[in-house]
Amino acid sequence: MNQVPHHIAVVMDGNGRWAAKRCLPRVAGHKQGVVSLRRCVKACAQRGVGVLTVFAFSSENWSRPIEEVSGLMSLFAMALAREVPRLQADGVRMHFVGERLGLSERLVAGIEGAERATASNSRLILNICFNYGGRWDIVQAAKKVAAQGIAMNETTLNAAMAMAHVADPDLVIRTGAELRISNFLLWQSAYSELYFSERLWPEFDEAELDLAIQSFGRRERRFGKTSDQLSTHADLSALD
Ligand code: IPE
Ligand code: IPE
Ligand code: MG
Repeated sequence: MNQVPHHIAVVMDGNGRWAAKRCLPRVAGHKQGVVSLRRCVKACAQRGVGVLTVFAFSSENWSRPIEEVSGLMSLFAMALAREVPRLQADGVRMHFVGERLGLSERLVAGIEGAERATASNSRLILNICFNYGGRWDIVQAAKKVAAQGIAMNETTLNAAMAMAHVADPDLVIRTGAELRISNFLLWQSAYSELYFSERLWPEFDEAELDLAIQSFGRRERRFGKTSDQLSTHADLSALD
């Protein structure tokens, strides 16, 4: 049987290379990336995934050439307007995770509108990490806990994180053949299974998603325990 992860997180990497291979501007790759994201959301919902978290723009991506950054900002605003009705119809609830300070008013209005419009949906939660960095999240959470004057521990810090509304990711996928995390979900991926795909993000399709899910199904998640402890527990629960 294929065990489907409850929460899948994806570093959608490789749009620029996809465009360069076709002698297109990098922004054309990002546009194709939106098409790929639409396909991935649909496929996850069909497979019974409960939460999909995607990395759309990192805190560090501001250092890209100005044309690319502004191209990404307008594409994001356009995609928001176009995709929300479809996501709404498909029962997808959207959350935007990241620093909103520094984003344009138009973008923040679009983000808030999308969150409001989809707030009562429950088929799939879609977290879009935008102007997000794992280090930013840890620091903002620590500041919140300090301001509340409560004890600083794993529970209080976790509750203050920007992803506190969902369980930690079971599977983190990175496309684009790079073997790194690039400041994504540093806190939350402590025990996630990792899957690195050679595909560039615009080429990431249902079959590749299924390969990642199959690979996840073959992993033994020990969370620090031994393999024997896990099988003993499984034997005991079979008796219930
Ligand atoms: C990922 O694709 C999308 C964003 C960072 C916004 P890239 O733009 O990093 O594509 P490559 O890695 O240059 O191919
Ligand atoms: C990670 O990709 C960020 C997103 C996918 C949004 P990058 O392309 O920015 O990562 P690096 O710079 O290669 O590590
Ligand atoms: Mg990249």
